[in-house]
Amino acid sequence: MDTIAVLGLGLLGRGFAENLRSKGHSVRVWNRTASRCEPLVERGAVAAATPEEAVRGAARVHLVLAEDAAVDEVIEALRPGLGDGAWIVDHSTNLPAGVAARFERLRADGVRYIHAPVFMGPKNSLEATGLMLLSGPSADEAALRPALETMTGKVLYLGEEPDKAAKIKITGNGLLIMLTAAMGDLFRMGAASGVSTDEVLALFDQFSPTASGMGRRALAAAHQPVGFTMRMARKDVRLMLETAKDPDALSVLPAVARSMDAAIEAGFGGEDFAVLADPDR
Ligand SMILES: NC(=O)c1ccc[n+]([C@@H]2O[C@H](COP(=O)([O-])OP(=O)(O)OC[C@H]3O[C@@H](n4cnc5c(N)ncnc54)[C@H](OP(=O)(O)O)[C@@H]3O)[C@@H](O)[C@H]2O)c1
Repeated sequence: MDTIAVLGLGLLGRGFAENLRSKGHSVRVWNRTASRCEPLVERGAVAAATPEEAVRGAARVHLVLAEDAAVDEVIEALRPGLGDGAWIVDHSTNLPAGVAARFERLRADGVRYIHAPVFMGPKNSLEATGLMLLSGPSADEAALRPALETMTGKVLYLGEEPDKAAKIKITGNGLLIMLTAAMGDLFRMGAASGVSTDEVLALFDQFSPTASGMGRRALAAAHQPVGFTMRMARKDVRLMLETAKDPDALSVLPAVARSMDAAIEAGFGGEDFAVLADPDR
């Protein structure tokens, strides 16, 4: 079996390393804070003192680091040890422009760097479940897919653009983060008016608009009769802010109210509130 290096043993990386070990791979690990290697060493991984040492003899190098600056720093440090033809598969959530520049720079030097960010948490990386994105040359996708499929539930290839996966990854995280903040607003509004978090969740067990459904409704709205005016939706946001009592504690609704006020000011009060989702407005 191939030797595989995992660099970055944070919440996500340690699960990848442990899962690869459990499948019998020879796994070499490196982490900036060396003590984080210890649990992996107990499971049979070999800890390296430097990135260069970690990647020596590895067919694949998996990077699971904080973001671009760390990725660039670690790649610089590992390059003297990197074998010809070894892959660097970067799972870090990075700036798309950072990925594009790194891809171009490294490929020009013959280094097989590819970006494969994930919708996976620590449990997913440990259990090889969840979703891994991948973009870059299709020949690379064909070569890497069998190995990557053992590390996740599904590999979603997004085409040749090296930074496409980075762009799609932050789109997905945008929804996760905004939805979590939005749930916080609704829980706070509930707390201020005697509605429990269980009651809020019970509503959404029965009535739960999806992101793609709302997105499609918004895009179609321009060609449909008005269903729900911006003015009326703004009134509802006022009701929410008044019910929440402490609007300063909210994350999403005050910003939405500001966007709606700007849209009404610009003459969209009688239009469908879906104007909020129009990227060309
Ligand atoms: N956790 C999740 O659910 C999740 C899900 C999807 C994607 N991601 C992405 O996966 C990546 C890792 O996330 P995580 O949750 O595992 O984060 P984490 O627990 O904070 O781990 C970050 C890792 O990056 C290392 N690091 C940070 N700066 C460094 C530097 N300058 N040089 C070398 N190493 C450095 C840390 O080393 P030290 O141990 O020395 O600090 C650690 O190994 C991030 O890009 C994150 O956005 C995370």
